Amino acid sequence: MLPRASTHACALIMKPVVLAIETSCDETAAAVYDGTVRSSVLFSQTPLHERYGGVVPEIASRSHIEKMPHIAQKALNEANISLDDIDVIAVTTKPGLPGSLLVGLSFAKALAFARSLPIIGINHLEGHVFSPFLEHTVPFPHLCLTASGGHTALFYIQNFGEYALVGSTHDDAAGEALDKIARLLQFPYPGGPHIEKLAAAANFQDFFHYPRMRKPGTDFSFSGLKTAVLYDLVERGWYDLKKRSLTIQLPLEAKQQIASSLLVCMGDILISRLIAAHKQKPDIQAITFVGGVSRNAYLRDRITTYATKCNLPVFIPSPEYCTDNAAMIAFVGAYKGEQGAFDDLTLDIF
Ligand code: KG4
Ligand code: ZN
Repeated sequence: MLPRASTHACALIMKPVVLAIETSCDETAAAVYDGTVRSSVLFSQTPLHERYGGVVPEIASRSHIEKMPHIAQKALNEANISLDDIDVIAVTTKPGLPGSLLVGLSFAKALAFARSLPIIGINHLEGHVFSPFLEHTVPFPHLCLTASGGHTALFYIQNFGEYALVGSTHDDAAGEALDKIARLLQFPYPGGPHIEKLAAAANFQDFFHYPRMRKPGTDFSFSGLKTAVLYDLVERGWYDLKKRSLTIQLPLEAKQQIASSLLVCMGDILISRLIAAHKQKPDIQAITFVGGVSRNAYLRDRITTYATKCNLPVFIPSPEYCTDNAAMIAFVGAYKGEQGAFDDLTLDIF
C-alpha cells in the first residue's frame, strides 16, 4: 500500500489554505480558498464540443491534460501565493467522465506526493450543494435543489457534509433535457443559455402546455418533455421521425414559443417537487438552488417567489459558481480538512 500523502495527514488543519482541482466534465478548473475565494480560474472546453451537440469524452480528457498545469499555476498566481503556502489539495473524484476525472486526480496526486501535502477526494455534487456558502452563511437545516447537466436532485442539508437525498430524477437531468431540446431546435451545446434567451423573447409565456409530471412526490422526470416537443414538431409537419431530422428551417417565433413553454413547464415541475419536499421537511430554515441550471433567471425567480411566499430566505450562487468551478470543491475540501478527513495516495475515482 502506498504511503499517506503527508505526515500530518491525520491531524486536523484549522482554516487550511486549499488548492482545488476540478476536471469532472468539460471545464478544467482550479481555485485557492482560505475562508474566502482567493482565486477561481477555469478553461471552458465548450468551443471544442459545441459542434458535436454534447461533450465528447476523449476530447475532454485530452484538453484537460493539456490545460491542467497552466490553470493550476494561474490559480496560484491570481491568489498571489505559491505551492509552499498550500495546506491541502482537494480534487473531484466523482461523479463525472472517468477519463476527465483521472486527469485531475493524477495531477492532484502528483502535487500531493511531490510536496508531501494531504489530499482529499471530493464528490462534485457535494461541491454544488455547498456552493452557496462561498458567498453566504446559509442556516441549517435547509433544502437544496440541485439542477445541472448531469444531475437533478433535492437534498435535505443538516450540516457541512451531512445531507440526505429527498428526491432525484428517474431519467434525464434538467440541464440534459434543455440541452437535448436545444439540439432539436438546432442550437449548439450547452443548450440551456440558448433556451433562456429564446424564452425571454417570448416573455416566458406558456404557449403549448407541455405535460407536467402527474405522479406526486419528490422525484423528477424530464424525458417526457423532449418527447412532447418532438411530437409537437412532428404534428406540425416540421420533423420527420423516419429521417430523424427537421423538414424545414424552424421559424424563430416557433423556437421562442417552444423554449418559453418549456421553461414554464420545467419551472412548474421543479416547484411541485420542492413543495412536496418542503412538506416532508417542514423544519427547514432556507432554500438553496444550485448547479448550472440555477443560472437561469426565470427559474431563479420561480424558486425565489416560492421561498418568499413561505417566508424562507433563498440562496442562489452568483452565475460563475452555479456552473462547474473549483471554488466549490475547495470549500468542501476546507471543511473536510478541518475535520481531518484526508485520503491517502491510493485515492481513486468513483
Ligand atoms: O453544473 P454544470 O456546469 O455541469 C454539470 O455538473 O452538469 O451544468 C451544466 C448545465 C448544462 O445542461 C447547461 O445547459 C445548463 O447547465 N445551463 C443552463 C443555463 N446555463 C447553463 N440552463 C438553463 N439556463 C441557463 N442560463
Ligand atoms: Zn456540475
